[in-house]
Amino acid sequence: MKSKLKRFEIIANRENVIEPGKEIFKTIKGKWNTDYFKRDRPITLELACGRGEYTVGMARLFPERNFIGVDKKGDRLWKGSTWAVEDQLANVAFLRTEILFIESFFEPGEVDEIWLTFPDPRPRIRDIKRRLSSSRYIDMYKKLLKPTGYFRFKTDNTDLFNFTLEELAVRNDLIEFEYTHDLYESPLRPECYDIKTKYEEMFAAKGEKIKYLRFKFKH
Ligand SMILES: C[S@@+](CC[C@H](N)C(=O)[O-])C[C@H]1O[C@@H](n2cnc3c(N)ncnc32)[C@H](O)[C@@H]1O
Repeated sequence: MKSKLKRFEIIANRENVIEPGKEIFKTIKGKWNTDYFKRDRPITLELACGRGEYTVGMARLFPERNFIGVDKKGDRLWKGSTWAVEDQLANVAFLRTEILFIESFFEPGEVDEIWLTFPDPRPRIRDIKRRLSSSRYIDMYKKLLKPTGYFRFKTDNTDLFNFTLEELAVRNDLIEFEYTHDLYESPLRPECYDIKTKYEEMFAAKGEKIKYLRFKFKH
């Protein structure tokens, strides 16, 4: 097991991790396909990616698309970055940032799809605005996404899932909206490719049902 400091040192020298201190961190907005991937392909974001199981898993499944995992914790990104290097995946990047600042890294409409995977539930009332599926975040995601792009959200947490459904219920700009409280028994399961994140493995093993929703924005 590598120490946190060792992991930080490794990702500081990894091209596939875009983080503070690197020149590209300041210039990448609007230029992911030209300056990083060097090919014009649809971009999928995985927000709160942790180790980036979706980012790397989908990059393996869809070599013709580009994938970016976003998280504020560098030691977690180290793992996904390492998988991508081991598998020589040129269609993967990781962005280390606080998601509140996500609009500093993407031009409106630069993104084709967003996954939000097992974000922290933040159960305290005073943290409602910090939940990554609260309205102010959803409004940001809308700006990043192309009109044809899906927003997809997976969680084990029933309270966070119900909170998110309530946040979405008052909007009138959603289309193709589907959800399930039990993904593994749902017809929606195939669109999640049976990729399981670390948190999903942990909670599914405890018997928690995995909840999932997806929609597009009507522009
Ligand atoms: C519960 S973990 C889930 C990690 C991974 N998606 C999984 O399912 O295994 C939540 C992740 O979200 C990240 N995170 C939480 N709030 C964040 C924020 N505001 N900006 C960026 N990352 C955040 C944490 O660092 C952590 O890695």
